[in-house]
Amino acid sequence: MAKTHAAAVSQQAGTPLVVVERETPEPGPNDVLIEVKAVALNPIDFYQRDYGMPPVPIYPAVLGSDVAGYVTKVGSNVTTAPPVGSRVLALASAFYQNGSPDHGAFQKFALAQSEAVTALPDSLSFEQGAVYPLAVMTALTAWTTMGISLTTRFTPADKQAVLIWGAASSVGTYAVQSAKALGFTVYATASPKHHDYIKSLGAHAVFDYKDADVVSKIVSAVRQDGLKLYNAHAVVDGALQHVLDVLKETKGQNPAQVANSPVLPEGHPTLDNTTIKFNYPSFDKEVRDKHIGDCFHGFLAPLLKNGALVPSPHLQVESGGLEGLNGALDKQRAGVSGTKIVVPL
Ligand SMILES: NC(=O)c1ccc[n+]([C@@H]2O[C@H](COP(=O)([O-])OP(=O)(O)OC[C@H]3O[C@@H](n4cnc5c(N)ncnc54)[C@H](OP(=O)(O)O)[C@@H]3O)[C@@H](O)[C@H]2O)c1
Repeated sequence: MAKTHAAAVSQQAGTPLVVVERETPEPGPNDVLIEVKAVALNPIDFYQRDYGMPPVPIYPAVLGSDVAGYVTKVGSNVTTAPPVGSRVLALASAFYQNGSPDHGAFQKFALAQSEAVTALPDSLSFEQGAVYPLAVMTALTAWTTMGISLTTRFTPADKQAVLIWGAASSVGTYAVQSAKALGFTVYATASPKHHDYIKSLGAHAVFDYKDADVVSKIVSAVRQDGLKLYNAHAVVDGALQHVLDVLKETKGQNPAQVANSPVLPEGHPTLDNTTIKFNYPSFDKEVRDKHIGDCFHGFLAPLLKNGALVPSPHLQVESGGLEGLNGALDKQRAGVSGTKIVVPL
């Protein structure tokens, strides 16, 4: 008889997840089967549970993207994954696998494509490991969306600055950390209670996004520092207009680039000589798989190993395992401030 495992499944949009037994899959040629020890939550998870959006092509569905656990089995073509028994973190996401429920995170055994699996150093717990995958990938995809390679390493002589609007978000914290690794001077926005923390992650200056003068304060600081600010990541809803207001003053005659992590609304604001793109990996599978490998193997793995990319933001560990996921998703939906919700399984 086939082996089974427990999974929290979405049977239809707008209903709570239900814990059921599912058949444990064999890994496909490029898959890694992971025994999941901790999952982290992202806004897409409650959107898909509650509204079935972004579209969920297959029900019952297994939602979620972020896992940490043990490698249990690897597919026949996999050459890059850590061996069976290794501790790993991974993007286990049905979203990138045509809705395949075997690839969703919210279950005790999940498949992940090999490009999205990275060794978890012994210094990090499974809970800490689970906070990286989707948030890191989104922060890194913003760079390539802006036309900036992940191998970029500016020096202070380049005077390159970047604006991260929404730095206390999960994606925003990795936007700051990765910006520092690429050699940017980081201007960021967050609530004042997070300013010291965002600076500890590598930001040069942090501004209160609720301050009526926030735009002019950022512009003055960039001018005073004598830096070039043409690139920005609008991480959160409502960021784009402010980001453009800053770039209007700082870009001069230079073309500017903005990566917008939330879906760009119809009729969104624009700015002359400025490219504004939805921050999303390529729809071409081959290009996307290479990009995912560049993120997880090329960029993340060495920085995890040497401790240069720390788990962020602060962990908010919720108990209850798979049964606790609905309550944890409700907390995510109500809004988090400078925390990432993690559920040990
Ligand atoms: N395109 C993609 O592939 C992709 C992937 C993942 C996520 N996303 C999107 O990226 C966004 C961020 O996701 P996340 O998981 O990082 O979110 P999150 O951690 O849930 O974001 C919460 C944080 O947002 C900050 N925030 C809210 N409104 C703000 C504003 N007007 N200005 C500045 N900061 C603000 C808050 O900061 P304070 O605590 O300082 O108030 C809070 O800490 C979401 O829209 C999500 O849907 C897109």
